Amino acid sequence: MSTDAIVLLKQDHTEVKRLFREFQRAGENAHVQKGKLVNQILEALTVHTYLENECVYPEVRKLLPDLEDDVLESYEEHHVADVLCAELALMKPADERFDAKTTVLMEVVTHHIEEEESEWFPKVRAGLGRKQLQDMGARMLEMRAKAPRKPTQPSALKKAVDAVVA
Ligand SMILES: [Fe+2]
Ligand SMILES: [Fe+2]
Repeated sequence: MSTDAIVLLKQDHTEVKRLFREFQRAGENAHVQKGKLVNQILEALTVHTYLENECVYPEVRKLLPDLEDDVLESYEEHHVADVLCAELALMKPADERFDAKTTVLMEVVTHHIEEEESEWFPKVRAGLGRKQLQDMGARMLEMRAKAPRKPTQPSALKKAVDAVVA
């Protein structure tokens, strides 16, 4: 089985976009279903963001210094999504702004995923060899086991602090 880091990241993106589509298809008053979907979205995003923040972005930044500006912009886009995720984690599906906040989260994340897939991943693949990407993917799989699953867990909140004081 390939552990190519970019393949693994794209699998996560595909799953997140599938959950987004399900949320968009759910009926106006499908509170139980939408609550479950948002929990799944928050978990998928918390794990994925952790792997990019703690493994992929720092390693790429070190190996390919030319991509530093892209990495810094990505940290900021993650941070905007983190804030929305942390707020959604405290809300109930019947709350007036629950759907609106989820919609903005989906817009922000969809934009970010598109930038990664169309601009950033090709640059990373061109700059790193197959072996480096496979080793990175293997580290991601190991880290996945200890990744935070909820936006309110300390290891997920740490990056929110980093965004302003690091
Ligand atoms: Fe990202
Ligand atoms: Fe990503």
